[in-house]
Order: sequence, then structure tokens, then C-alpha cells
Amino acid sequence: MQRGWRVLVTGGAGFVGSHLCERLLADGCEVLCLDNLKTSGGENIDHLRSAPEFTFVRHDITQPVFVEGPLDCILHFASPASPRDYLRHPIHTLKVGGLGTYHALGLAKAKQATFLLASTSEVYGDPEVNPQPEHYWGHVNPVGPRSVYDEAKRYAEAITLAYHRAHGLRVRIARVFNTYGPRMRVDDGRVLPNFMSQALRGEPLTIYGTGLQTRSLCYVTDLVEGILRLARFGAPEPLIINLGNPDEVTVGALAREVLEVTGSSSGIVYRPLPEDDPRVRRPDIRRARRILGWTPAVPRREGLRSVVPYFRKALQEAECVRSRVEA
Ligand SMILES: NC(=O)c1ccc[n+]([C@@H]2O[C@H](COP(=O)([O-])OP(=O)(O)OC[C@H]3O[C@@H](n4cnc5c(N)ncnc54)[C@H](O)[C@@H]3O)[C@@H](O)[C@H]2O)c1
Repeated sequence: MQRGWRVLVTGGAGFVGSHLCERLLADGCEVLCLDNLKTSGGENIDHLRSAPEFTFVRHDITQPVFVEGPLDCILHFASPASPRDYLRHPIHTLKVGGLGTYHALGLAKAKQATFLLASTSEVYGDPEVNPQPEHYWGHVNPVGPRSVYDEAKRYAEAITLAYHRAHGLRVRIARVFNTYGPRMRVDDGRVLPNFMSQALRGEPLTIYGTGLQTRSLCYVTDLVEGILRLARFGAPEPLIINLGNPDEVTVGALAREVLEVTGSSSGIVYRPLPEDDPRVRRPDIRRARRILGWTPAVPRREGLRSVVPYFRKALQEAECVRSRVEA
């Protein structure tokens, strides 16, 4: 990002948002981190609070928003993201994708700021093509339990493009594929935190379905690099870009890799597949490579190994809190 830019990150206290805030500060930007702490506790940004160029704004983006002074860029990341969170907060998820995106776009228009939406691979639903290119329209069940997230993001994409067409706003859409790294919540229900927590606790790893469904996992620093390249890309036309690691792996193979990197002797148990769970997930990143010169740099095994100490510590802390509460 350009040194000296004033950037608003909605959802900035979350897993990805906090890494973005950290990197923006390191790049010499002024950062306004807006979050209502709906799915994070604020601890992800504790280490940033004393930085003079960092401001935390506690606000619910489903309510109208105004900030003093100029803004160069808005990175709109506020939204429940894990299935456990969006199934627990279905209406809020739709509101933040709809009203929240509307308010964030209104602010971008008022400030003539570049607007970048964090969309998701879930806009492709349970895809019929693999890998998924940006021109694929998706295969989404509009009334299934996951639709609150998928359709909220599809609406968010539509209104983002509408602001470009109606008001000439400079917009970018990042379709983010599964990302992992430090600061994920150990209990957020996504496949990697699940496997890591179970392996490190010595519990069997739960595979939903046969384990032949595929995922692709991108390390968070790679994602952040892609987001920032997309945000600062100069062209006035809208850009829609997949950001993810194309190294596809079956969930069964991922479970075995987690057992290996954690040194765990846990077994594996199989449970029924949740409704509308995607069978394949793999980004086609040719556009990101060509336009942004971006490609993920962290191989999965290296990323998995490097994240083990984080999960180990986070589980110990969660265990301490639990014993204090029970005592
Ligand atoms: N992590 C991934 O693998 C992944 C994949 C695809 C898309 N994304 C997108 O990236 C974004 C961040 O995901 P994450 O994994 O960091 O999730 P997260 O839950 O850790 O972070 C989301 C943040 O948004 C905040 N938030 C929620 N509702 C809000 C509201 N109404 N007003 C203000 N803040 C609000 C939460 O408190 C939280 O801090 C989301 O938009 C998500 O859809 C993430």
C-alpha cells in the first residue's frame, strides 16, 4: 500500500483484518480499524493499539458510518466468516453483507476512496467447474443454511459494482478462498482449526463426509500481499480477483498432514456431511498472476508447520480460562 495512505479496515479486529492492519502500519499507512467485535474479542489488535498511526473505532457497520478527515482506501472485511459464526448469526450475516456493504460504499463515495470488498469463494457455491475462474457464475442454493453467507456476499458484490456503474467509484473485489494462520479462533469450526485443536488435544480428527472433498488453503501473509496489490492497482475499472492457493488437497489428506506436523497419534472419525458443503474448492489464479503478479509463496506443509505453535499456545490459554471458570 502507498506510504502515507489513510486506510479504513472494517472487520479490522478479526483474523484477516488484524493481519491487514499490522501490514498497513508496517508499510507506513495510517489505519482506522472499525469493528463491533461480533466474532472477535479485540485481542488480535492489542499489540497495535499503542501505535500512533492506529485508531480503533468500535462501530457496527450495519449502522450508518461517518469518519472525520480524508480516506484513500476502504478494505471492507466486516462479516462473520466461519460457518459456525454465520449459522449462529444468520440475520446479522445478511445485514452486514447488505446494509454493512451499503454503508461502507456510501463512505467510500463521500471520501472518493478506493473500495475493496472481501468476497469469498462461497459465491461459487458447490461448484460444477474446478478450478473456479472469476467468470464462473456459481452454483448456490439460495435457501439452504449456508445461503445467508453466500447470498450476502453475492449481494455485496452486486452493490459494489452498482456503485462503480452509478457513481464511478473505484472498486475491487477479492474472492478469498480458505485462508489460515495465527489468530484464527481455535473453536471457529473451520476445517484447519478443527483438525489442529483435535490433534493437539489428542482427540480424533472429525472428517465430515468421506474426506474426498477438496479444499485449498492459503497462508494469511500471502492473502494480505494479494489484497494490498489489488487495493493499490491503479486502473479505474473494477477488478474481480480470486485470491487463494491453488494447491488442492482432499480433506482426508489434510487430516493426515495435520497429524504429521503436530506429531499427534490421534485417529480419525467420520460424520455426515453438512448440507450444501462444497465438494471441491480450488481457485483459478491466472488473473491474479497476470494482473497483479501475485502468487502464493508459502507451501502448505511449511504453513501448517509454522502455525502449530500458535494453536498450541491458544489451546493452552483456552484451557486456563476454562479451568478458572470451573474453579
Ligand atoms: N478467513 C477466510 O478463510 C476467508 C475466506 C473467504 C472470505 N473471507 C472474508 O474475509 C473477511 C474476514 O474474515 P475472517 O476470517 O477474518 O473472519 P473474522 O470473524 O475473524 O473477522 C471478521 C470481523 O468482522 C467483525 N464484524 C462482524 N460484523 C460486524 C459489523 N456489523 N460491524 C463491524 N464489524 C463486524 C467481527 O467482529 C470480526 O472482527 C470476511 O468478510 C470473510 O467473509 C475470509
